[in-house]
Amino acid sequence: METYPARFNTFAHTHTPQPQACDTPPSNVQHPVMEGRMRFSTRAAFAAAGVALALVASGCGADDGNGSSGTGSKQVEVFTWWADGGEKAGLDGLVTQFKTDCSQYEFVNGAVAGGAGSNAKQVLASRLQQNDPPDTFQAHAGAELTDYIKAGQIEDLSAQYKEWGLDSAFPKGLVDSLTVNGKIYSVPANIHRANVLWANKKVLTDAGITAAPKDLAEFFTQLDTLKAKGVAAPLALGKDWTQQMLFEAVLISDLGAEKFTGLWNGKTDWAGADVTKGIEDYKKLLSYSNKDRDTFDWTDAEKMVMDGKAAYQLMGDWEAADLDAKGFKDYSYSVFPGNGNAYQWLADSFVLPKGAKNPEGTKCWLKTLGSAAGQKAFNTKKGSIPARTDAVAGDYPAYQQAAIADWSKGVAVPSCPHGSACSQGWQGAVASAQGKFSSDGDVAALQTALVAAAKQYAGK
Ligand code: GAL
Repeated sequence: METYPARFNTFAHTHTPQPQACDTPPSNVQHPVMEGRMRFSTRAAFAAAGVALALVASGCGADDGNGSSGTGSKQVEVFTWWADGGEKAGLDGLVTQFKTDCSQYEFVNGAVAGGAGSNAKQVLASRLQQNDPPDTFQAHAGAELTDYIKAGQIEDLSAQYKEWGLDSAFPKGLVDSLTVNGKIYSVPANIHRANVLWANKKVLTDAGITAAPKDLAEFFTQLDTLKAKGVAAPLALGKDWTQQMLFEAVLISDLGAEKFTGLWNGKTDWAGADVTKGIEDYKKLLSYSNKDRDTFDWTDAEKMVMDGKAAYQLMGDWEAADLDAKGFKDYSYSVFPGNGNAYQWLADSFVLPKGAKNPEGTKCWLKTLGSAAGQKAFNTKKGSIPARTDAVAGDYPAYQQAAIADWSKGVAVPSCPHGSACSQGWQGAVASAQGKFSSDGDVAALQTALVAAAKQYAGK
């Protein structure tokens, strides 16, 4: 059985910094019940099954509403892409805890809007290149974080892990994804699930659909039913990275969890017939989606579901928090059809960049983020489950309680668009191939591009 760490320690820095100014819009568990409280262990899930496992800068040197800008010794600029809705609600929860735990410091909101960091990552790359890092930034655990480590852009936090007792707070597999050459570089805030199918209950009921689709065949049948009932685009979809997510969910169904994971560690051949079948199934799914998908962020696609214009959307579980934040209640969720117990994970983590202006303030942010109180303040609002293994499931909303249970029984598989599976260079190559496919639908050309991307970036 393969181990988790081996898979994630072999990636190199591959992203190309873009010359974008900060204020310039880019172009384009086991669950032992202890004393009546339910606890859960993410360690078990990571160890399982070969691991198994319009730019709105609210932002960019802007303050938290007090009118100040820039960073000084008291200020801690926190760079994320959590600018609205449930994402902002999660960040706000953490900031409240920071204000309590680190009252000597001032939070400065460096958020750059755009799902999955589509704008923020370019701005960040530019700032790092210009030696103007924020005090801390959001980076995904796994290969994406390894990019920054290999580039020498972030500090070793091993001493802080010991000092704050974090060594044993997180699942070993997760800590391994934050570690290179024995040094730990980041503090994880959460574990998100990517492969979730969200639905508008009324749209389904009106079409006579009473249960979530179990597999792809059933999904296609339901989508046909919805179309026949007049729902022109029953599957809401957005641009590049959201298409990558949908494609990966299809691949998990067609290849199974283990072979899917193998795509990222060299054990599964991208040129295989099962990948071809996956691309064909994905192409068929595109035919049920909105034609303007390439202009949509995930929240635009989500709005189609909320407005009853679409029935379904494949999206990560930040959608639970966002629907809640927007007051939309008539939704249901299920694992993507055919994914079984595969839990496609990703984790937001925060770092101490080299050259940060206020490293002590950053450490206070990181300590808060890693604490039980910080993880609760953040994750109860963000839709994710806490990375800490000592969290109490009963403290969380219904969606997260279900996710905690699924995680304990699940097989962890990684995500490329959210950095747990692949480097930023690989992400970019896949995104551009998917973008082309969205217009030309050329199955062979997409597969050739995916084979070439794996050849270029696997192990880097
Ligand atoms: C992911 C991130 C999540 C959520 C999502 C949509 O990359 O890890 O926390 O923000 O993007 O923007």
